[in-house]
Amino acid sequence: MAYALLKHIHLATIVITLALFLLRGAWRLTDSPKLNQKWVKIVPHTNDAILLAAAIGMLVVANLNPLDHGWIMAKIIALLAYIMLGTIALKRGKTPLQRNLAFIGALAVFAYMIAVAVTKQAWLV
Ligand code: HEM
Repeated sequence: MAYALLKHIHLATIVITLALFLLRGAWRLTDSPKLNQKWVKIVPHTNDAILLAAAIGMLVVANLNPLDHGWIMAKIIALLAYIMLGTIALKRGKTPLQRNLAFIGALAVFAYMIAVAVTKQAWLV
């Protein structure tokens, strides 16, 4: 029961995180001042914190140890890569090329995380 609720929260926040990342990417691409709105600096991080909290909650409730499940470990590592690429894409990247490549890379890692979650396989081939 608690697990099902946490999974719903996990999935809802995944949809929100992707939508907000695409929106911010579009604003970054067009150098829009909207990127500097106050809520943009708060809401994505709050949502991501909930996403991760729900994930950790599922691990606790279902007694899943990432060290025993390669697919969970793969998601954790992929999440770190996604965060790094995301900050380069939206902030740290010095040139448009750097930012665009990081943006595409972040989306590829995101797709990988979904595939890993659905298949429960770290190696998809
Ligand atoms: C490192 C942090 C994360 C952990 C520990 C984690 C863990 C989990 C767990 C335990 C489940 C439930 C599996 C099941 O009961 O079937 C799950 C489901 C899922 N996760 Fe995550 N997750 C994390 C981050 C993410 C991220 C960032 C994404 C998005 C890219 C994501 C996408 C999904 C999807 C799509 C499912 C549903 C899979 C299905 O049932 O078909 N997860 N995750």
